Amino acid sequence: MTPAARVQAAIELIDQIAAGRPAEKVLTTWGRTSRYAGSKDRAAVRDLVFDALRCWRSAAVLGGGESGRSRMLGVIRQRGEDPETIFSGQGHAPAELSDAERDAGRAPDGDAALDLPDWLAARFRDSLGAATEATAQALRARAEVFLRVNSLRGTVDQAVAQLAQDGITAEPHPLSPTALRVTEGARAIARSDAYLSGAVELQDAASQAVVDLLPLGSGSSVLDYCAGGGGKALAMAARLGGGRVDAHDAAPRRMADLPARAQRAGANVRIVSEPRGAYDLVFCDVPCSGSGAWRRAPEGKWRLTAPQLADLCVTQAGILDRAARLVAPGGCLSYATCSVLAEENADQIRRFLERSPDWRLEVARQFLPSDGGDGFFVAVLRS
Ligand SMILES: C[S@@+](CC[C@H](N)C(=O)[O-])C[C@H]1O[C@@H](n2cnc3c(N)ncnc32)[C@H](O)[C@@H]1O
Repeated sequence: MTPAARVQAAIELIDQIAAGRPAEKVLTTWGRTSRYAGSKDRAAVRDLVFDALRCWRSAAVLGGGESGRSRMLGVIRQRGEDPETIFSGQGHAPAELSDAERDAGRAPDGDAALDLPDWLAARFRDSLGAATEATAQALRARAEVFLRVNSLRGTVDQAVAQLAQDGITAEPHPLSPTALRVTEGARAIARSDAYLSGAVELQDAASQAVVDLLPLGSGSSVLDYCAGGGGKALAMAARLGGGRVDAHDAAPRRMADLPARAQRAGANVRIVSEPRGAYDLVFCDVPCSGSGAWRRAPEGKWRLTAPQLADLCVTQAGILDRAARLVAPGGCLSYATCSVLAEENADQIRRFLERSPDWRLEVARQFLPSDGGDGFFVAVLRS
């Protein structure tokens, strides 16, 4: 496919997403049914669609309309490229621009320039104050690719050297001693020896930094109460140096790949369907808005509603209360989200402490996308 044909494909997919179809489903169906598209085309079209999703609102203002065509025009203008070379009408390229399209569009301002819906921009300001703009701007850019070096398999230097053999360049990142930022060759990771042998895992740097803050003494009994795919369970098992982590999730199918991932990593993870106390540490990586990770999953910015956010907060409080009952006396309860919104983070912990006077806060830390990784919050409480 030519670059312009890829833009035309993205335009059609954006129209489907705007009509309410989930982006991942739209992209998978297109990839499966477009036999002319090779893997590079699929990756390029995906990048274009995600660029538009990250900058959905500003692209519409700059492109002068809300259609897929206008939004892609906005994305191209935002990049400083000449739209006439892409909207040429030749071959599979988008049709030529009309005079009206050439004249439409203006530089976005206010909340449109932040690429947040108005109601969320207000919550960002309440939560982040002076850091609002930098956070919103960071969420408009593509996320970097990070790896976690699995200390059960080797050192950071060994992992860097092993990755280099497959043409992947990576360098340490200050957010965590186990974090590597991939600077070249990211698309080769999934078939690299380093990945297949469990020396590295794909994991955001702030996600690793969250695990670094957990009290994981050797011999601790640990429950990951919302284990999901198990990224943090594996990181905790590595920090325990071979010690076991129990993994639980209300939707056990989400942990389907965890046994294979644990085996590859040499990590001791046991799935438990009905956890019973008492653990030295119960870690709750609760379901949340995902607002700290909207670079990777930008659709959430535009689909999330205020009632959904309120429901999530109720779920989070319920998880905290249930998980607290699984902690041994003197043990720790930890709470984490990939959100930057105070109502899911500091406010949630403040309300828990108000209704649970036996607990005290030991650690609270908010990571922001402007730190380099995703936005994450973590709190550690002791009974
Ligand atoms: C943010 S994800 C966890 C991600 C995971 N810790 C990781 O690092 O890959 C939140 C998980 O919480 C689970 N969940 C939702 N409600 C729950 C509940 N009431 N109890 C336990 N887990 C729940 C979801 O199924 C989801 O897998």
